[in-house]
Amino acid sequence: MSDNELKLNINGKQFTLDADPNMPILWAVRDMLGMTGTKYGCGAGLCGACTIHIDGEPARACLTNLKQVQGKSVTTIEGLEADKLRRAWSEHNVPQCGYCQSGQLMSAAALLSKKQRPSETEIDDAMSGNICRCGTYNRIKSAILSAAESSKMEAEL
Ligand code: FES
Ligand code: FES
Repeated sequence: MSDNELKLNINGKQFTLDADPNMPILWAVRDMLGMTGTKYGCGAGLCGACTIHIDGEPARACLTNLKQVQGKSVTTIEGLEADKLRRAWSEHNVPQCGYCQSGQLMSAAALLSKKQRPSETEIDDAMSGNICRCGTYNRIKSAILSAAESSKMEAEL
């Protein structure tokens, strides 16, 4: 067995990789496991394109190495269960080029998992680390508000 055999729990499945424990998980999911929904933008924690969840918390896959996720549960956009958000994204026609959008959805989903009815300020705070070169910020905010509203309506039924 290789010294570098690492166990990863991603989207509810177990993977074993022979990889450098110091390698960012971004490269493991994209290049080794073929899950290319998580994007590479800046590689320096500045743009949010690579946002994943680690034990439910948003994290930068470009700055998180494989040894840091041992024993933790990783979710990528491929495993994200966020039907209301996806519907709202589509209804508000959010994506332009689309490059940043999986990271945007991961941050939005983490916010709504903690706060079902976030204020606009809370949305701004939660989404402030996700850059969109196409400037879709207003549509992103509208979609998050609309997903939160649909959760509220369902809760009241
Ligand atoms: S690629 Fe990770 S924050 Fe930009
Ligand atoms: S939709 Fe193009 S970068 Fe955000």
